[in-house]
Amino acid sequence: MKFGFIGAGNMAGAIVKGMTIGTKSYNGEDIFITSKTVTSAAALAAECGGAVCETAAEVVAKSDVLVLAVKPHVLGAVLPAIKAEIGAKTPLPLVISIAAGKSLAYLAELLPEGTPIARVMPNINAKIGASTSGLCVNGFVTAEQKALVREMFSTIGTVAEIEETQFAIFSVIGGASVAFAYLYMDALARAALKAGMPKKQALEITAQTVLGSAKMVLESGEAPWPLIDQVCSPGGTTIEGVTTLQAKGFESALVQAFDAVLGKDNRIGGKK
Ligand SMILES: NC(=O)c1ccc[n+]([C@@H]2O[C@H](COP(=O)([O-])OP(=O)(O)OC[C@H]3O[C@@H](n4cnc5c(N)ncnc54)[C@H](OP(=O)(O)O)[C@@H]3O)[C@@H](O)[C@H]2O)c1
Repeated sequence: MKFGFIGAGNMAGAIVKGMTIGTKSYNGEDIFITSKTVTSAAALAAECGGAVCETAAEVVAKSDVLVLAVKPHVLGAVLPAIKAEIGAKTPLPLVISIAAGKSLAYLAELLPEGTPIARVMPNINAKIGASTSGLCVNGFVTAEQKALVREMFSTIGTVAEIEETQFAIFSVIGGASVAFAYLYMDALARAALKAGMPKKQALEITAQTVLGSAKMVLESGEAPWPLIDQVCSPGGTTIEGVTTLQAKGFESALVQAFDAVLGKDNRIGGKK
């Protein structure tokens, strides 16, 4: 199986490196990459042992699976230029788009009739193999192809199959919330700094605690509130912090932040 990448930026780099260097699940020699300048594609290809292509058409010619890793607004120019090359292949290649906000229907409009298309939304934690990626496919994708997409994106983290109608919701809790989590950790570490602990040490302790708490939620099967109850002893210190967060609107601020991201996503998508 040969894999072609159009675009060699942050996300393509994370995926290609996860597939080859990080997990060694795929051979670099099966990977073909192009980009606008070709310089970034050449650098990525050199790093993973893949091949650089001068044009997107060359990538299409050499690949069974095509990953569209350009910015969303670039798709409208890139896809019409390679539609004929894609249509000339038998069978049609599996096309995977990671472009934020671009639906399966939008992609299908720009691709030959019958093209199997998968839409995947990874997040930046892909760079360390810890993405939470959302996945949905169109009706032309076979079970084997879907399994292949899962396998590919498992090299950069976990994969959740979701209905496309819930992709915008996913992009908040699986995408934007990455920044929310960074912000939470930074604020706590700054509070520790104010109280006298070096920021670097405070951030490390905070991040490890978030990591441990996430593992607890995932592995214990418990909902967060029973876990919070376990940490709060009667008349103790932790409940003081929890009730202060509640009084200051911590939970409602998160709900409002969620709504704000979803609203913006809907406006960009023209749904209002
Ligand atoms: N970064 C994230 O956290 C993230 C998360 C989820 C989804 N995504 C999605 O991933 C996609 C890529 O994002 P990114 O952050 O990796 O962007 P990026 O770092 O800016 O990379 C974009 C790549 O596209 C290439 N490119 C631009 N025009 C091209 C053309 N006409 N033909 C071929 N290649 C072209 C660029 O080439 P040069 O290198 O030569 O300039 C660059 O390698 C986007 O659609 C984004 O929505 C990103």
